[in-house]
Amino acid sequence: MTDAPAVRLTPRLAAAAAPVRIDRVICDVGTDHALLPCFLFQRGARRLIASDVRKGPLQSAMRNIRKYGAEDCIRVVLSDGLKNIEYAEDIIIAGMGGELISRIISECDFFDTNTRLILQPMTRAEKLRRAVYAAGFELLSENCVREGDKYYTVMYAGYTGKPAEISELFSYVGKVTDNAYLARQADILENAARGCTVSDPERAKRLTELADGVRQVRQHNESQGSLHIFE
Ligand SMILES: C[S@@+](CC[C@H](N)C(=O)[O-])C[C@H]1O[C@@H](n2cnc3c(N)ncnc32)[C@H](O)[C@@H]1O
Repeated sequence: MTDAPAVRLTPRLAAAAAPVRIDRVICDVGTDHALLPCFLFQRGARRLIASDVRKGPLQSAMRNIRKYGAEDCIRVVLSDGLKNIEYAEDIIIAGMGGELISRIISECDFFDTNTRLILQPMTRAEKLRRAVYAAGFELLSENCVREGDKYYTVMYAGYTGKPAEISELFSYVGKVTDNAYLARQADILENAARGCTVSDPERAKRLTELADGVRQVRQHNESQGSLHIFE
């Protein structure tokens, strides 16, 4: 043990840490400073991988791993996504764009029924939800977190082994029950619709319908508790 202070995470990273199973093999992809694995180590995790595609972040990861006395429990791996990772059960990918996270998931070949994904996209959450289902996972839950004026969702997904397509509305709503997130999502869709009313009226109509759909889910949540959207 060291006398290092407790690792403090931002609300976004704390939300990503919350569903992780401490007793599993855990991989944090795009770890940067490795604060998340160090936090999980302090919570009792002992089989951790901190990976990043760049050497610079891994050097700062190593500094933190040493600072928190976790050298025997956190392995540092240089890897593009999961390409150099042989196996992990709980896989966290946080702080990247939804399209990059989608690509990383689609390229992995070791997923099995023990795998859980914890995903926190900075953009394109709707694309990531589609990629999650296409890779043979289902969303178990989503937890929204607010930092300043930004909302983030943390997706928690379990492996089914059955690739599936999801509806467009579900790709925007997922398992989110946070009404502030849904209201913002509807506004984003409506603004996008306004932006293409002249150039692409068909698309504008589709986006307006989606915005209405998201608002209906939100209203239903408010009046009756959460509504299940068919995936
Ligand atoms: C914005 S930081 C996020 C750090 C931390 N995960 C968080 O959420 O605060 C993104 C990190 O992902 C890494 N990264 C980008 N593309 C990657 C890839 N294809 N595979 C692994 N890591 C990647 C970057 O080098 C960077 O350290």
